[in-house]
Amino acid sequence: MPPSLIVEPTDANIDNAAGILRRGDLVAFSTETVYGLGADARSAAAVGRIFAAKGRPANHPVIVHISDVSELMYWAAEIPDGAIKLAKAFWPGPLTIILKRGPNVVDELTGGQSTIGLRIPADPVALKLLRRFGSGIAAPSANRFGQVSPTTAAHVAQGLGACAGLILDGGPCAIGIESSIVDLSGALPRLLRPGMLSRVDIEAALGATLDCDNSNAPRVSGSLESHYAPHTPVRWLSADAVSNALTHQVDRLSMGVIAMRHQPPEAASAIQWRNLSADPGAYAHALYAQLRELDALNLALILIEIPPDEPEWEAVRDRLRRAAGG
Ligand code: TXA
Ligand code: MG
Repeated sequence: MPPSLIVEPTDANIDNAAGILRRGDLVAFSTETVYGLGADARSAAAVGRIFAAKGRPANHPVIVHISDVSELMYWAAEIPDGAIKLAKAFWPGPLTIILKRGPNVVDELTGGQSTIGLRIPADPVALKLLRRFGSGIAAPSANRFGQVSPTTAAHVAQGLGACAGLILDGGPCAIGIESSIVDLSGALPRLLRPGMLSRVDIEAALGATLDCDNSNAPRVSGSLESHYAPHTPVRWLSADAVSNALTHQVDRLSMGVIAMRHQPPEAASAIQWRNLSADPGAYAHALYAQLRELDALNLALILIEIPPDEPEWEAVRDRLRRAAGG
């Protein structure tokens, strides 16, 4: 197979990408959250190729990306008021809304469930591709199943190799972690996956509280405890526990540390220290690239200092917990 082709998002390349989608093949593209691996959402065969490329179990549903709210009617059986409120407030943007599926939805998109996930992305490349293509693009994150989501075109090529075919390079993703997912298909709105669009802002726009009990929630691959995990074992610890680990017997291990402070002088110089921002947005933006970089060093262990237990850190803490395997 030829290597995957990373291309600039010129009009000609976006046209070409739309043509590839029309033929039923896959195209990877930037979004503001993470890169997506896209297929024609109306084609069961094309959607099936996503599952093959990712090595993803067939019972995991895929988000459909659209470019205009008017398209909701094609995909959803009903559009509750809450969906209109959220769409007005946050689309285009890093929010996925789960609705009852309409009759046009192929089973491959839903993993056998009665719902469909929809999102209008804000990234200009994603929007241009959607408009050129003229219909919904099914796209999970453009990584092998269970691995860290890609936030650059190079990450996509590393993870998926030739499976991605064409990769539209929109630069590093502006946000860097996956969209917030709100389920409006049941009696109460539920937050299935926290994202950088915060729970508080979603609740304010909805005028309702988000249910936290996800025990009856639809299956979401992003809710598996081991999701978003690097190969290297990851532990998340308090800053004190990290310091302890550094000054005790573990100093013979090759270790990486992701912290929110500079490397203390007592830490062995061989430690791969990465200092991320104390601002949650900047932290999220850099996190996956840092995890990949450390993962590539074949270290024995990656220690991550737990960010504060504050609402603005909810999404980052969620991803770190999963990277550490729950
Ligand atoms: O930011 C994002 O959401 C990125 C970009 C590419 O848009 N996409 C993404 O896709 O993260 P994926 O497939 O890696 O994660 C989407 C999550 C999965 O956990 C999936 O199970 C869930 O959305 N999902 C999709 N459709 C669903 C449905 N009908 N009901 C419940 N969960 C659903
Ligand atoms: Mg994913």
